[in-house]
Amino acid sequence: MDTSKFKSVISKIKTLPTLPQVFYKIIDTIEMPDSSAKDVKNTIKRDQSVSAQILKVANSALYGHSREITDITMATVLLGFDMIKSIALSVSVFSSFPKTENNSTRFDRELFWIHSMASAEAAVIIADKIGYQKKDQAFIIGLIHDIGKVILDYYFSPDYKIIVTKVRQENCLIRNAEIETLNFDHSLTGGWLGEQWKFPESILSSIKFHHRVNEAPKEFIEEVIISHIADIIARSAEIGSGGDYNIPKISDIVFKKTDLNQEVIELIVQQLITKKTEIEEFFELLN
Ligand SMILES: [Fe+2]
Ligand SMILES: [Fe+2]
Repeated sequence: MDTSKFKSVISKIKTLPTLPQVFYKIIDTIEMPDSSAKDVKNTIKRDQSVSAQILKVANSALYGHSREITDITMATVLLGFDMIKSIALSVSVFSSFPKTENNSTRFDRELFWIHSMASAEAAVIIADKIGYQKKDQAFIIGLIHDIGKVILDYYFSPDYKIIVTKVRQENCLIRNAEIETLNFDHSLTGGWLGEQWKFPESILSSIKFHHRVNEAPKEFIEEVIISHIADIIARSAEIGSGGDYNIPKISDIVFKKTDLNQEVIELIVQQLITKKTEIEEFFELLN
């Protein structure tokens, strides 16, 4: 892969979006769940924009509570801490990237975030099926597996416009159009962003190798498998779009390394389809 263009563009990026503290606090709790649960709640409370979004979701028709939910403690009691954390993670990631005004590339950011959320939900179901204990980490892995596309859309917009057009004309995978046009793909830019954001190696690997499971480091194979199939399951469930409407083949490694089979995958797809409206409405609320 010739990455000279990548290097020349990223060397010119002066400011990058940052993630709210809440995101990192939740990452901290993955290894030490009990000690930092309180910290997460306090960090959420201190972040006005994240708290406001959580309350908006908590008070929406989606959850149908008759009483008005006025603070994070009450929201945690009514929706559960897991739900609060996934809302906080999603809000953190969506709000970090400014909306582009003219959308010169025609990459559909809204469908993209919906695809990301669907992949996050899929990742949690997969984690459950393969006995992967770190549910929050699985959620994050699904949520950000394609984050490199936002970097391409934003910082490489003339090229991304060509890429998006190519996908529309040829109905190919967006990743293939990226490689043909740029000589690298969104897993490279996503991995790079994850490094700037100081993500742990496990999450970095899940971004970098989600389309190249065979090259994944052994110690993070579970994380890579989760991101790889979460994407394919979200595509199969037809929720949102990561930029194209094709369904890639699942790597054989998945079936060698886990107990998953095509039947279980299909069940997960069906389970995800039942959440389609919830995911789409959730995104509408945050918008
Ligand atoms: Fe991808
Ligand atoms: Fe994807």
